Amino acid sequence: MARVLFQHINKQYPGEHRLSVNDFHLEVADGEFLVLVGPSGCGKSTLLRMLAGLEDISEGEIYIGDRMVNYVSSKDRNISMVFQNYALYPHMSVYENIAFGLRLRKMAKAEIHERVIRAAKVLEIESYLNKLPSQMSGGQRQRVALGRAIVREPEVFLMDEPLSNLDAKLRVQMREEIGKLYRRLNTTMIYVTHDQVEAMTMGTRIVVMKGGIIQQVASPKEIYNKPVNMFVASFIGSPPMNFVSGKIVITQGQCYFETKRYVLLIPEGRRRLLQERYIGKKIIMGVRAENILYQSEDLEQEKHKHAKIETMVNIREHMGSDAYLYLHNKDHRLVMRVDPWTEHEEGQMLTVSPDMERVHFFDPETEAVIC
Ligand SMILES: Nc1ncnc2c1ncn2[C@@H]1O[C@H](COP(=O)(O)OP(=O)(O)O)[C@@H](O)[C@H]1O
Ligand SMILES: [Mg+2]
Repeated sequence: MARVLFQHINKQYPGEHRLSVNDFHLEVADGEFLVLVGPSGCGKSTLLRMLAGLEDISEGEIYIGDRMVNYVSSKDRNISMVFQNYALYPHMSVYENIAFGLRLRKMAKAEIHERVIRAAKVLEIESYLNKLPSQMSGGQRQRVALGRAIVREPEVFLMDEPLSNLDAKLRVQMREEIGKLYRRLNTTMIYVTHDQVEAMTMGTRIVVMKGGIIQQVASPKEIYNKPVNMFVASFIGSPPMNFVSGKIVITQGQCYFETKRYVLLIPEGRRRLLQERYIGKKIIMGVRAENILYQSEDLEQEKHKHAKIETMVNIREHMGSDAYLYLHNKDHRLVMRVDPWTEHEEGQMLTVSPDMERVHFFDPETEAVIC
């Protein structure tokens, strides 16, 4: 077990003018399960590969425990990495596949046997040890790949999109298995994915990256509820957060968010920063699909009376446990989550109301959150 410290890491590939990883600075605690998430090409694999010693570090220092590892060769870093493409040796049994790396290291036979059995127990593949990979399902094969990583008893586990090749149902199952594995081993894990659902369900702490740069580091709940900028707000959560452009106006002592088609009253507790810095200025309001409510009789309270949006139902999408309405009005679109049992006709007019206590405001220039 060990902590991992990335100290202002830069990576510039030869011939590339842009940094693929840009001033990455983060400490991963001993025994932590950290998830790195971001769109394809944001530098996730590059970062893991630098930590694993498979790629040179252009600038900065990486520590595993108290040891600076910049110049330590990959095999001496005491790290195991599981990739998306878990190539098993097809002619070797599961047992031999798991034992292979240990044999290369000339470990004593008895010790190898003990470790393989222990890993097989943890992964519940004891009864498959004599089978060939071709006799196993994709999920079982991925467990063998995990077994190969476990037996090395590394200080740090690295996983680079290990579930991307599995079908949706198996992915959910393996997510849970990896979580269980982590709880049993209690080893520091750094898990990379481009899938925000995986990040949200697995990580105790999530790092959101874009273009080689850390955007936000926080718990899944905080990332979802308090995104620091528009990128995080739209990347995390499905469907993505709705954004509406408008400006802040003061009318008769009240503070409103105003667009071409409607004005929305901003609740008192949320006004201070907006009134201080944004009166008359352009601003972007973000609202999640579940925070758009029907404007109905029982919502005729003060705060909703001044927060009406007239829209038309463009598309209704039924997802089983949820349904989404794609609402349309000449110059804006909104996605709203509704109870799947409610009936809506496409083309029907609908008055809705964002929950103004839960909307987010962003600066259109910096895209950073204001409040
Ligand atoms: N060997 C390489 N040579 C040059 N550029 C690379 C190389 N590997 C990755 N890159 C670039 O670095 C950036 C980050 O890539 P990568 O770390 O693979 O992203 P991710 O794993 O998040 O999809 C991308 O722009 C990619 O094109
Ligand atoms: Mg990658």
